[in-house]
Amino acid sequence: MFDTMTLTKAGGAVIGALLIFLLGNWAADGLYNIAPAAHGEGEEVAQAYSIDTGADAADAAPAEEGPSFDEVFAAADPAAGEKVFAKCKACHKVDGNNATGPHLDGVVGRAEASVADFAYSDALKGLGDTWTPEHLDAFLTSPKAYAPGTKMSFAGLPKVQDRANLIAYLATLN
Ligand code: HEC
Repeated sequence: MFDTMTLTKAGGAVIGALLIFLLGNWAADGLYNIAPAAHGEGEEVAQAYSIDTGADAADAAPAEEGPSFDEVFAAADPAAGEKVFAKCKACHKVDGNNATGPHLDGVVGRAEASVADFAYSDALKGLGDTWTPEHLDAFLTSPKAYAPGTKMSFAGLPKVQDRANLIAYLATLN
């Protein structure tokens, strides 16, 4: 009963079914392509709308209410700043010795990343500026924003009053 013709027909039917299945799959893929691989490969998916979180503006200059740093710094209190410095003591000394961080005596007005025997990160070495009170203010607001890639693992001092007092204290060590 199984002659060649029957076998050929049966085989043909199986192969035909497979072919239709594969074609169907391929067509469905084309029609409903939801595979993530097709997106995001280099091409950016256009957003229907974007929500402005204000993040860019916040990165550039942290929005702060109230008086500017310069105003607060002009009337800063070094004694109060010495108390704020407690947050830095774990890593910074002010007796000329380096610790986890470089020593900070004379840091106000000092060239950035200039303590000869301290191994600064490339991030800090690349700054090439001077630690003016304003630069210290920016760095201490957010070390990572001022020097992306810095190895100073400190989140920052959010209060302008704390930063001003602290920098006034550091200036007394010059
Ligand atoms: C967890 C340790 C740690 C704490 C806490 C910390 N620092 Fe630092 N600090 C570092 C390290 C490490 C570096 C060197 C950063 C680099 O090379 O990227 C650094 C660098 C600095 C520099 C740059 C000095 C230079 O010679 O260019 C200043 C200024 C500074 N810190 C101030 C402070 C102040 C002020 C505080 C407290 C509010 C503080 N740091 C808290 C570890 C710390």
